[in-house]
Amino acid sequence: MTIATLRQLLDAATAGHHAVAGLVVLGWEDALAFAEAADEAGQPIVLQAGPGSRRHTPLAVLGPMFRHLAEQARVPVACHIDHATTLEECRAGIDHGFTSVMIDGSALPLDENIALTRSVVEVAAPAGVSVEGEVGFVGYAGGRASAFTTPADAARFAAETGVDALAISVGNVHLQTETSDGIDLDALGAIEAVTTLPLVLHGGSGIDPAVRRMLSRQHRVKKFNVGTEIRQAFGASVRATLARHPHSFDRLEILRPTIAAQREAALRVIRNLGPG
Ligand code: 13P
Repeated sequence: MTIATLRQLLDAATAGHHAVAGLVVLGWEDALAFAEAADEAGQPIVLQAGPGSRRHTPLAVLGPMFRHLAEQARVPVACHIDHATTLEECRAGIDHGFTSVMIDGSALPLDENIALTRSVVEVAAPAGVSVEGEVGFVGYAGGRASAFTTPADAARFAAETGVDALAISVGNVHLQTETSDGIDLDALGAIEAVTTLPLVLHGGSGIDPAVRRMLSRQHRVKKFNVGTEIRQAFGASVRATLARHPHSFDRLEILRPTIAAQREAALRVIRNLGPG
């Protein structure tokens, strides 16, 4: 049984001075690819079901699918709900077997974010489920702008919520298709000075792999969420298949090659963050 909580993975990453990959799952092909990549690398991973994934596929399907892959893997795998915005969504994730939930109250005023996050911890902790919260706001490429996490807010949030992991905004931005060098090390250091919690950076695709590796070793960033980078490998695979077989219409024929393509992309992410 290799199913794990986020807390267990982050504790191990902290002890080992490295980080884990939180990989965005949209369907069976990528979930399988990530589990295979984790096994190949010999490194734990976090399989993440975000809002898009949950809109597309019922939790009653995603939960058992994630747990099946986690139980088959030879390495610890956490099954995580990403960017839930309500207590009910978190409860549903817990009921469907997820071992970790992110409650994202980052769009709310701080007091409301703290109260919502605290309410999720009160439900999740007795169930043995980890909780990630977010303070500050991580923006979206071409969408809403970021609001950097202030050390004062991070300190209060950490002290008053009881979360296992803290997602912060220090120059990271979701959905970037090119890497940027936007991480503000002074802002990160100021947050590290006021909390001992493991930190999470969303928008991992926009952070250069060398910077991710440095942050995992020299700072307390213990999880990087990566989605776009691997979806680009998915898209390239589909385009290549259709270019080779322009008349192809069979779903399996088109999607099967995406498993290897995403496995290779995930392997690069996982190995880069892992020890060694
Ligand atoms: P990217 O798609 O930018 O890598 O971000 C993923 C993410 O942060 C999911 O929570």
